Amino acid sequence: MNLTEPNCGLKYLPSTSSSQSKPRSPNQELLPLTAKVNSRDCLEIGGCDITTLVEKFGSPLYVLDEFTLRTACRQFRDAFKTYYPGESQVIYASKAWNCLAVCHIVSSEGLGLDVASGGELYTALKAGVSPEKIYLHGNNKSVGELSLAIENNCTIIVDNWLELKTLAQIGLDRPETGPISIMVRLTPGIECHTHEYIRTGHIDSKFGFDPNDMDEVFIFISKQPQLNLTGLHAHIGSQIFELQPHRDLGEVLAEWMKKAGDRGLKITELNVGCGLGIRYTETDDPPSIEEWVKTVSEGVVAACKSRQLPLPKLFSEPGRSLIGSSCVTAYTVGNRKTVPDIRTYVAIDGGMSDNPRPITYESLYRAVVANRMSDPLKEKVTIAGKHCESGDVLIKDYQLPETTPGDILVVMGTGAYNYSMASNYNRLPRSGAVLVSEGEANLILQRETYEDLLRQDLLPERLVID
Ligand code: LLP
Repeated sequence: MNLTEPNCGLKYLPSTSSSQSKPRSPNQELLPLTAKVNSRDCLEIGGCDITTLVEKFGSPLYVLDEFTLRTACRQFRDAFKTYYPGESQVIYASKAWNCLAVCHIVSSEGLGLDVASGGELYTALKAGVSPEKIYLHGNNKSVGELSLAIENNCTIIVDNWLELKTLAQIGLDRPETGPISIMVRLTPGIECHTHEYIRTGHIDSKFGFDPNDMDEVFIFISKQPQLNLTGLHAHIGSQIFELQPHRDLGEVLAEWMKKAGDRGLKITELNVGCGLGIRYTETDDPPSIEEWVKTVSEGVVAACKSRQLPLPKLFSEPGRSLIGSSCVTAYTVGNRKTVPDIRTYVAIDGGMSDNPRPITYESLYRAVVANRMSDPLKEKVTIAGKHCESGDVLIKDYQLPETTPGDILVVMGTGAYNYSMASNYNRLPRSGAVLVSEGEANLILQRETYEDLLRQDLLPERLVID
């Protein structure tokens, strides 16, 4: 068998030191940590053969590797212990993938959870996450969402004046609940190089208080004993490879911490958000989790030292870098269309409904053929989704082995913002997800059925003609 130019470049990976010393192939770096090629030449993740998973659970199928996810949680947690001399708390930005199993795993690793809606909050509570480790975000939270957070003693990250005044009033109306824990989100005024839709730190952002308002915000809060301001928050964007903006954020937040002190408010917590990028393709080169944590920690320590401020409890909110690389999506290959001299389309049984990132942000992905891992790369194809939309293309002009209908195509790096942004476009039932670990596969999201699609539909009686 020719393994020199294989489909994914994966060698068989027996755990001998000689095989480990071989350079890792580009695609191997994009797969979850437990990925191997088994003796049937099929891709295995978490000890489970992907083709067997598809036989059992159907496709498209999200396959989440528990080991990779837990490893990332521990890397964040341990790196803060190493590099930050004060107290720290990592909070998973659950908008990346919020469901019972993911919330449960992440919180069992000691992480808190950031939720961006009542729905995410409700799921986190049902998953058993400690309410005091849940932080509610949002630029337009409803009174219902705020109430759910308050009743459960979660912390609210206040985004704007309307919300601040609403909370002050709720606090007055319900003195029996005690002071409401809040952090204040501000726009830090930091620009970074990422897609404009996922930049949030620049001044023209819909999130957070404008810096010009902050002084007034501090004065207002200092007169509201029913609000307990513990900290400040800022987030600069997502899929960021540069470290400097994250370091700069420490300076910005420390400066505001000092100004709050000048107004008599004692801030003991800073939340730097996250935004650390991951590798989707062989040319992506993001910093490691450790490098990111080191930079952020050193930035905050230096900024506090130069202002003679005590070290705050340092919060961070990674989403993508915690879960992105721990999942792949398995599809079944179907139709092929060759447009002479232009392109060959290979269609799969999902697309923009299970992964809307390529059509939304022109995001790049990589794939392997999971049932013929060592087949040589033979042809350049464009992997098309099955939706009635020309832009529904997952990967453009990509070298793959020759595929035939029924082959299993695995797209890598689909853990973040895939399931969480999935839709029912064209009334496709949403895909299922399995959690794999040490040869066991557990369904964590059931595949939707046609019945599920109709669950919320109502047909007014007057429309029914008998
Ligand atoms: N904290 C806040 C307040 C956020 O808004 C976000 C992401 C995060 C933390 C986590 O950022 P991360 O570590 O995942 O970069 N749908 C887009 C990404 C939107 C990010 C929204 N906010 C995508 O698919 O690329």
